[in-house]
Amino acid sequence: MTTEEKQISDKIRVLYITPECTPFAHSGGLGEVAGSLPGALNRLRPSAKDPHSRFDCRVIMPLYSRVPEKYRSEMKFLGYTQVAVTWRQQYMGLYELHHDGVTYYFIDNEYYFSRENLYGYFDDGERFAFFSKAVFAALPMLGFEPQILHANDWQSALVPVWQTAFYHLPGIKTVFTVHNIEYQGSYAYSFNDDVLGLPAEEVRLVEFNGGINLMKGGIECANIFSTVSPTYAEELKDPANAFGLDSIVRRNEGKMKGILNGINTKDYDPAHDPYTAASYSAAEPDGKKECKKDLQQYLGLPEREVPLIAMISRLVSAKGVDILQQVLDSILEARDVQFVLLGTGNPLYENWFRGLETRHPDRVRSLIMFNIPLSHQIYAGSDILLVPSRSEPCGLTQMIGCRYASVPVVRATGGLKDSITDCSLGEGNGFTFDAYGPEGLQDAILRAVDHYADHDNWKKLMIHDMREDFSWNVSAREYRGVYESLVQPEEA
Ligand code: GLC
Repeated sequence: MTTEEKQISDKIRVLYITPECTPFAHSGGLGEVAGSLPGALNRLRPSAKDPHSRFDCRVIMPLYSRVPEKYRSEMKFLGYTQVAVTWRQQYMGLYELHHDGVTYYFIDNEYYFSRENLYGYFDDGERFAFFSKAVFAALPMLGFEPQILHANDWQSALVPVWQTAFYHLPGIKTVFTVHNIEYQGSYAYSFNDDVLGLPAEEVRLVEFNGGINLMKGGIECANIFSTVSPTYAEELKDPANAFGLDSIVRRNEGKMKGILNGINTKDYDPAHDPYTAASYSAAEPDGKKECKKDLQQYLGLPEREVPLIAMISRLVSAKGVDILQQVLDSILEARDVQFVLLGTGNPLYENWFRGLETRHPDRVRSLIMFNIPLSHQIYAGSDILLVPSRSEPCGLTQMIGCRYASVPVVRATGGLKDSITDCSLGEGNGFTFDAYGPEGLQDAILRAVDHYADHDNWKKLMIHDMREDFSWNVSAREYRGVYESLVQPEEA
């Protein structure tokens, strides 16, 4: 064995299975996590305490039509095969791409993945059942033998199920991470005969309340099941938060971990951000003023020294839009503030925000769109960032807000509670409220606005927030512990 081969065999090999991943195709937080955790793991160096902990973590995802041409043109075709989805024989092509220290594999099938959006189709269940099966079909073609298959959310929840019920591949362990329990992949019982084809004695793995529930199967079958913050892990045991799956969570509590996500501090770096008007940092914070002016100009709002409040979010009920609707008009009437929204979602919410802009034309902008460069401009140009979620498994925007000194106002739930502490408690980094409702939210926003008026203290708070370490360094080490507990280092 050459030294290089030995080093590779010493590494713990993980295949990270995800329905989305930056910078190729993503729609939310899972895509950002998939785009940064594997690289962070690969960069971890072994310590004297953990001599074996080197990782080769690779990623596999669907080849959606929106994956940009600049990446496609660099991909290497590894081969193709057929994948059975019960009676259907479907083509699967496999591509490989090396990008920024990580090897990515892409599953190609135009019928399933050449569509405008990632999700939201009548046959999503079939599309991702295909994807999960295709992962197994791809294994012999990768030139890489993973020891751990790490699946994420309902779209890949079938991976641990297939391994338990069907493949039984030796030497392979599975991890399943729930990024959001609200989306479970639930179908009628007939989905098994039509799409899954699990034998009668194994259907119980995915059977739930008389139907089929893919997330339930992932939780039951994985060797370790994790979620994206310690508080969310606790919350999921409670019927009020688990969308019906609390009993399944409690039953699997012994193998459950809650690990807070990190953010990609290279992509989100106010000192080197290609999308912003000026650079700044905790050491040299002044550039933020220029970013704010630039944002006000861009939005056509008066360039005034008033708190600029932002929200960057999918517009769905879990994000707290309903309580925001009850307080924003009165806050805009009571205080001299500006407000900008960036996001898309429920058309009722979208229209409400359009109406808010019409009612306050010189104070409010509602940008109903998904736009990455603009989101960076808003993080950099705003003073206060709202994340009033009813439920938030982890949440990334509050951490990005800190990094850009846009001070978060959050509801203390899930990962928001684990990352933001209220300024009234001394060394806080934001403003929080507990009970979900308009009163708490209004109070927290007004406290932030009042704090802003005290310029010296606000500046201290901004610098404190920019110094917070929300990088993957800490969390990647926790994943390392999870993987190591499943794999015995190989002897050379
Ligand atoms: C989901 C959750 C969000 C979390 C993200 C990444 O989008 O809703 O809270 O930050 O996944 O884990």
